[in-house]
Amino acid sequence: MTDTTPRGRPFYGIDAPPIPALLGAAGIASAVAATSRRTGRTALAVAGAVLLAGTGIYLHTTLRGKLRAWDAILDRAAFNGDEQVLDLGCGRGAVLIAAARRLPQGRAVGVDLWSADQSGNRAEATLANAAAAGVADRIEVRSGDMTALPFPDNSFDVVTSAMAIHNIPSAQGRRRALDEAIRVLRPGGRLLIADPSPFVRRYATHLGQGTLRALGPGYWYSGPWVAVSLLQVVKQGAIEHEPVDAQGRR
Ligand SMILES: C[S@@+](CC[C@H](N)C(=O)[O-])C[C@H]1O[C@@H](n2cnc3c(N)ncnc32)[C@H](O)[C@@H]1O
Repeated sequence: MTDTTPRGRPFYGIDAPPIPALLGAAGIASAVAATSRRTGRTALAVAGAVLLAGTGIYLHTTLRGKLRAWDAILDRAAFNGDEQVLDLGCGRGAVLIAAARRLPQGRAVGVDLWSADQSGNRAEATLANAAAAGVADRIEVRSGDMTALPFPDNSFDVVTSAMAIHNIPSAQGRRRALDEAIRVLRPGGRLLIADPSPFVRRYATHLGQGTLRALGPGYWYSGPWVAVSLLQVVKQGAIEHEPVDAQGRR
C-alpha cells in the first residue's frame, strides 16, 4: 500500500527564473545609479522602483498567487471527487497536486517535457511534492509532449493547463496542443487553461467557444502587462439525458 503521510511542504519552484533575476538586478542597478548620479536621478529612481516592485509581484505570483488562483478555480469547478484529471505542462505539480487534493477517489495525471521554464523542473521533484502533500497515491507523472498526447480519445473528465501552452514556440504547435486537449476530454468534460491573456483569446478563437476571465493582480507576472486569464471550455457532444421520474419513465 502506498504511504500517503504528508512530509514537509511542497515547493513548486520559480517560473522562468531568469526573468525575476534580471528584473531584480536591473532594479538594484537603477536604484544605485539614482543615488550616485547628478542628472536623471528621478527617472532612475522611478525606473528602479518599478523594476523592484515588478520583481516582488512576479515572485509573489509564482510562489503564492498562482496557487491561490488555482485553489479558487478548482473550488469553482466543484469536482465530485472521482474525476480523471490531466494537467498539461504540470511542472513541479502546483495545479496537478491542487487537483489531486480534490480527488479522493480519482486520479490526476501530469504530462511535461521538463524544460528549464521552472526552477528544478523534473519528474522526481513533482513526485516529491505529491508525497509532501499526501497525494502520491492519486498522481501519475508522464514525460511527454502535449502536442502529441499518449492517451486515448475521451479519457479525461477535466484537462487543466497553467502557464504552459504559450511556451510552445509555434502557433501551429499551440493549436495542436489545444486539439489534443479536446481529443482526450470526454464529451461534456471541461478544459481549464490559464495563460497570458492575449494567448488565451487566440485559444478561444481557435476552439470556437469558451468563457474568458481575467485572474487579477494575484496572477500578474511583474505587472498588468503580463496578466493571466482563464479559458474554460466544455467539450461538445455530451449525451443529453432526458429527465426521468421515480419509476424511470421519461
Ligand atoms: C512555467 S512552467 C508551469 C508549470 C506548472 N503548470 C505551474 O503552473 O507551476 C511551464 C511548463 O510547461 C512545460 N512545457 C512546455 N512545453 C511543453 C510541451 N510541449 N509539452 C509538455 N510540457 C511542456 C515546461 O516543461 C514547464 O514545466
